[in-house]
Parts: sequence; C-alpha cells; structure tokens
Amino acid sequence: MSKPKSNNTKTISVALTLCLVCSVLVSAAAVGLKPAQVENARLDRNKNILVAAGMFDPASDTNEDVAERFKDFDVEIVDLNKGNYLDDDALKSVGIDDRNAYDASQATKNQALSDDLGANDPASIGRKPKYAKVYVKNDDAGQPELVVLPIQGYGLWGTIYGFLTLESDMNTIKGISFYEHKETPGLGARIEEPEWRATWSGIHSYDENGNVATGVTKAGNPKENWIDGISGATLTSRGVSNMIQFWLGEQGYKPYLDALREQNGKKLDSAEVQASQSPYKKLGQNLNQQQMHPVTELTKATSASHGKEA
Ligand SMILES: Cc1cc2nc3c(=O)[nH]c(=O)nc-3n(C[C@H](O)[C@H](O)[C@H](O)COP(=O)(O)O)c2cc1C
Repeated sequence: MSKPKSNNTKTISVALTLCLVCSVLVSAAAVGLKPAQVENARLDRNKNILVAAGMFDPASDTNEDVAERFKDFDVEIVDLNKGNYLDDDALKSVGIDDRNAYDASQATKNQALSDDLGANDPASIGRKPKYAKVYVKNDDAGQPELVVLPIQGYGLWGTIYGFLTLESDMNTIKGISFYEHKETPGLGARIEEPEWRATWSGIHSYDENGNVATGVTKAGNPKENWIDGISGATLTSRGVSNMIQFWLGEQGYKPYLDALREQNGKKLDSAEVQASQSPYKKLGQNLNQQQMHPVTELTKATSASHGKEA
C-alpha cells in the first residue's frame, strides 16, 4: 500500500496557491481601478475649483456640469517669486513637461522645484513650490475675471488643501473651498460647510498699501474684514488663517496678483475696487507704489501652450 502524502505538504501547497490567487486578484483590482481613481480625483479637484469660483452647487449640479463649466478656465503655471506665467518652453527648461500633469504638492519633494521655508513658514508647509498651477477665467476682452489659487497649510491634525478665488480686482474674495484635510468631523471639518465658506465672499484681501488685510479670528471676537472662526475649532481656524495670509503674502501669490492687477489696469485704491462688495471699511486714497512688488511682465503664453484641461 502506498503511503498517503504528508498532510503538511498538502496544507502548505493549498495555502501557497490561495496566497498566489489572492495576490493576483488584489493586484489586478489595484491596477484595474487605478484609472477610475485618478479620474475621480481629477473630477473632485475640478469640482472644488468650481465651488471656490462660485460656479458649482454640489446640492444641485452634476458631474456633467463640472466638465462643461471647467472649460471656461485656462491652466497657467506661475513663477511664485517673479509673478509671471511660464510658457511651454520655459516650463520645459525647468523640467515641467506637461502643465496639466504638474502637481505643486509633488514638486515640494523635488529640491530643484521648491524652496525650503526654514523658520519663515507660518502655514507650516516646510517647502514652497517655485511654480504654482492656477486656473484663470478670462472675460470677453481676454482680461482675467476670476483666478483660482491652490492653497495649503497645516490645521490641527494635518495639511489642509483648498482653493481661493479672487475677482478681477485681484482683491475681493469670490469664494473658498477645501478638498482634503484630516480635521475632526463636527469640529475642524466644518471649514467645508457652505455656511462658513460663504462668510469669505466679498472680503477684501489687501488694504490700500497692499498688505494682507484678512484672516480668521477666534470665534466671537469680531474684527473688521476678518472671518469669524469656528467655535470649538480654534486651532483649525488658526491654521486656515495662517495659510490664507501666507498664500496672499509676498511668499505666495502677491507678486502674481500685483502683476495681474497692473495688467487689468486696476488699483487697490481705485473707486471701483473700493466700491466692490466688501464689508471692509473704504480703502485709503493713495496706493504707495513704492511698497508694491515690482510688476513682472505677464508672458501670456500662445494659445497653443495654454492648458485647457479636459
Ligand atoms: C477628539 C478631539 C478632536 C478635536 N478636533 C479638533 C479639530 O479638528 N480642530 C480644532 O480646532 N480643534 C479640535 N479639537 C479641540 C482642540 O483640542 C481645542 O480644544 C480647540 O481647538 C479649542 O477651540 P475653542 O477655543 O474654540 O474651544 C479636538 C478635541 C478633541 C478632544
């Protein structure tokens, strides 16, 4: 009589086969689902850009609306230190092959594409990308009507990512949205709620001297032109305040916004800008040009090099 095969060998071979089959299935699912995940992330980001621009209501609008309305935006890459756009040749020369695929957050992991902020880091982001991807909606005359600016900064539990939209005066806030954070539901996560986000609309970013004039106060401590913080979430509110002030400031988009305002022919002390829908006191009469960052020529890229993200 032949000896039965050892039970151990059988058990091990069944276990190994099972492991192999499971790992093949998991890998296939991961690879197969990747394109859908990338597409969903892109859709979510574009939706948040439109929310910040006041062009999308998540309660009633659809994914088809996202695709249609997002066509109104040009994708531009801004040199944050100089304030100008990079055309395709300039992008290639700094190692960015595709403006649509460029990810400023990833760029902070690349020494050549980012700067260490050292101690001068109020938003606690560590490194600042040299180039930012912004979304611009032009009016019929080709002048910027809305600019949507990516922003990020540390909250209480982790980095908060969002978008801030400014109107054509490059001063009045049109809207804000947050699409990724680790804040607590019911506390810090309330930054996502439409009611709180709505309080940013119409707020002025700068005073007549070009200094950042807004932020988030502790709840119940009103300060003119500042946003009331969220009760029980002072630390998240402070994180948002720091990130807004950082990105509107000299280290952030200020050189770019000054250049756009100059291109638009709008000044922070103009009657039109003063009269814009803001609860802030009237801005002063004379803008001290000496205090403004020197305006850099905005090298508007050729239409071919303008990104129209699908
Ligand atoms: C489990 C837990 C989660 C919390 N999450 C947050 C948060 O997401 N954001 C925040 O600012 N504070 C959060 N807090 C509260 C903070 O520790 C702190 O008490 C609060 O920010 C102070 O806000 P207040 O001065 O408005 O009371 C959390 C506290 C606990 C115990």
